[in-house]
Amino acid sequence: MTFPRLVLEVATVRALTSPFLFTASAPDCQDLLKHELTVGSSFRLAFSRPGLVTFKSDHPLSLSEPRRSRLATLEGLSLGGAKTLPELIALLERALGDARCPEGDAEPPPAHDALETAQTETWTLAVHPWPVAEDEEPTSEDRLAEARQAIENAWPLERRRGAFEVGILVPPVDRAHFGYFAFLRPLGASAPAAKVIPPSEAPSRAYSKLVEALEHFQLSLTPGSSALELGAAPGGATFALLERGISVIAVDPAEMGPTLASYARSRGLLLQHIKKPAQAIDGKDLPRLSSAPRYLISDMNVAPPVSAQYVLRARSLIKSSLDVAILTLKLNDTAALDALPRVLAELERAFGQPPQTAHLPSHRREIVAVLQRRP
Ligand SMILES: C[S@@+](CC[C@H](N)C(=O)[O-])C[C@H]1O[C@@H](n2cnc3c(N)ncnc32)[C@H](O)[C@@H]1O
Repeated sequence: MTFPRLVLEVATVRALTSPFLFTASAPDCQDLLKHELTVGSSFRLAFSRPGLVTFKSDHPLSLSEPRRSRLATLEGLSLGGAKTLPELIALLERALGDARCPEGDAEPPPAHDALETAQTETWTLAVHPWPVAEDEEPTSEDRLAEARQAIENAWPLERRRGAFEVGILVPPVDRAHFGYFAFLRPLGASAPAAKVIPPSEAPSRAYSKLVEALEHFQLSLTPGSSALELGAAPGGATFALLERGISVIAVDPAEMGPTLASYARSRGLLLQHIKKPAQAIDGKDLPRLSSAPRYLISDMNVAPPVSAQYVLRARSLIKSSLDVAILTLKLNDTAALDALPRVLAELERAFGQPPQTAHLPSHRREIVAVLQRRP
């Protein structure tokens, strides 16, 4: 006799929609993100603070839509902001506690107007630090814990009906005037990558960019393999590769960090610096290795279309052995951003799969694109 249960569930399910899109991003990239989402689209800028931008769409957005931004570290349906924790609880109460919409809010919470979200499921809570610039103090663990506790007290598990994640952005104490901001994401949405602090021996912050990419995309490099690295100097990423037992062919006309060669030797690894631009290397330049390169790493400070051209040329030299390409694409200006869809499509055609991309905590105006050989 399943019929009565079916009726009960259908009667208690709702869908969440909102015309407001929430994005969090590195403050450095916010102008690019605004350009990315508003040019040639139906989004209009709604609200903006360093690290947070909301957009208004001309149609209701739902949680099942694909992500819109490659620069946002978090993206979802906006529930709006609240100056204090009690106001935040009240905002969540209006948005999630029952189906009523608040009156007079600049940014109303999602409307509960269709049958979709199973109310038998329990929503999850994710409390995030407000994105800040590299030299700014991030939100303390204490402030994050305080916000989490306040919401957990107001919302014990049995009250949390709905198949979604409630996200809260908590500003650092010196930005407390920003208030809190609430948004919804699908259940199981990936958490932003954690920031990696480079060890003092690493010659550059690019160490962190590579390690964050490995962690974010759950890539494990096999010790004893080798990598071809384009735009390798001064060698932060090279150091991360050597640290993982990977021999490196480093291609860059600039100098590599002076300690890398002895570090490689001490680990019994090969480090060969080909002091040429990537477009000038050919098969004769590549040293004989016990194993052909399985990894292609690129971080050249050239525009994305140029980078893609050099990457594809280098790939043709190691195509048969290549397993994973980790490509940093510099987005210095809106022209670079505008070229990105075309570049990603070109990479997709060449590799036979769409690149996965992310903007990671140690990125400035750049993203990473990852392509893996199909199993
Ligand atoms: C952001 S830095 C790379 C940082 C490096 N990945 C690290 O881990 O330290 C950009 C590098 O790209 C190099 N570069 C620019 N054009 C290049 C080209 N055509 N071929 C190879 N390297 C290039 C520059 O010399 C510079 O060292």
